[in-house]
Amino acid sequence: MRSSAPPRGRVLIAAAIIATRVRELAAAVDAAYPDIARPLRLVCVLKGSLIFTADLCRALTVPVEIDTIAVRSYNGAEQPTGDVELVKDVGSSLRDRDVLIVEDIIDTGLTTSFLYEHVARHQPRSLRLVTLLDKPARRVRQVRIDFCGFVIDDHFVVGYGLDHAERWRSLPDLWVMESP
Ligand code: IMP
Repeated sequence: MRSSAPPRGRVLIAAAIIATRVRELAAAVDAAYPDIARPLRLVCVLKGSLIFTADLCRALTVPVEIDTIAVRSYNGAEQPTGDVELVKDVGSSLRDRDVLIVEDIIDTGLTTSFLYEHVARHQPRSLRLVTLLDKPARRVRQVRIDFCGFVIDDHFVVGYGLDHAERWRSLPDLWVMESP
């Protein structure tokens, strides 16, 4: 079976708009690190941020190194439990490094809050966060967002790295999955 769009879906943000915004974000990140001594360490939050990280890092002019981290959150559709589990830690020392966490989407804020606390324990020199999407409607934990691509309404979105049950990550556009 081949399908190039989620059922009952509609495009929320087209690939060309995303590409323009990613370049703007990269310019903002570049400007925030004018005199960086060592490469900026990007921490890509697997798996949703894979494609965003790939595009962002190629738009940056500041030198970068890439690491990955994986977490699992148990946020029910209705009721966030707040439980976040580390599945895979970064593979390199972040001590005294300038670190930029690269997130796909911030919803309740629980995952980001966990990541901030966890990465801070690695004692980076500085710690900032960029997210492609901010979905503030269901926020239960306030988190600092240094760079944000798009603020969106309370939709479930897929594509450009974001999934539903592991599907639709490879779609170039961001889609809204409408309820049945
Ligand atoms: P949190 O609620 O801010 O902790 O977000 C937890 C995680 O849920 C995010 O990192 C995403 O992986 C996932 N998530 C939240 N909203 C969406 C969505 O609209 N589409 C796909 N994944 C989402």
